[in-house]
Amino acid sequence: ELKKNEKLAKLHQEIINLECNLKDTATNVVISDGDSDSRIMFIGEAPGAKEDLAGKPFVGDAGLLLNKMIGFIGLSREKIYISNIVFWRPPGNRTPNDKEILSCLPLTRKHIYLIKPKLLILVGSIAAKSLLKTKDGITKLRGKEHKYYDDEYKLIIPARAIFHPAYLMRNP
Ligand code: URA
Repeated sequence: ELKKNEKLAKLHQEIINLECNLKDTATNVVISDGDSDSRIMFIGEAPGAKEDLAGKPFVGDAGLLLNKMIGFIGLSREKIYISNIVFWRPPGNRTPNDKEILSCLPLTRKHIYLIKPKLLILVGSIAAKSLLKTKDGITKLRGKEHKYYDDEYKLIIPARAIFHPAYLMRNP
């Protein structure tokens, strides 16, 4: 039986080998940041330009705002774990399409299974829709308790959806 960090290293390799058209235009793969033993896992949408260059999620302006939001509840980036729905930057920061989301989703599900957080924070409508299997928008989903279900991995994890910090910057 492999240890958690060995399983995560294997997952990283599987992600790198994934077939996804976003790889053709991206500079780096962007997988995760933070504490893999954290009880809270945040999942965003997709890497932007800064993330693509750094190979790390949420390091641009939206990331700086997210850090403040996390700070206001007495946590810090080092104490949470963070990933995205897709692992490569969509060209021009467009929204990832269904095909791109679906090609990454099996490994995002595995990622959640390996981290086993007590709480999932779905950052923005793409993460919320993709993982709560709903067509409802973020305005309807936020402020409510949800559950993330994965029958295959036998997971039921409390989940919350929040406005994406990039959306909050455009709509302060
Ligand atoms: N926005 C996201 O959703 N994820 C990132 O990693 C950066 C910006």
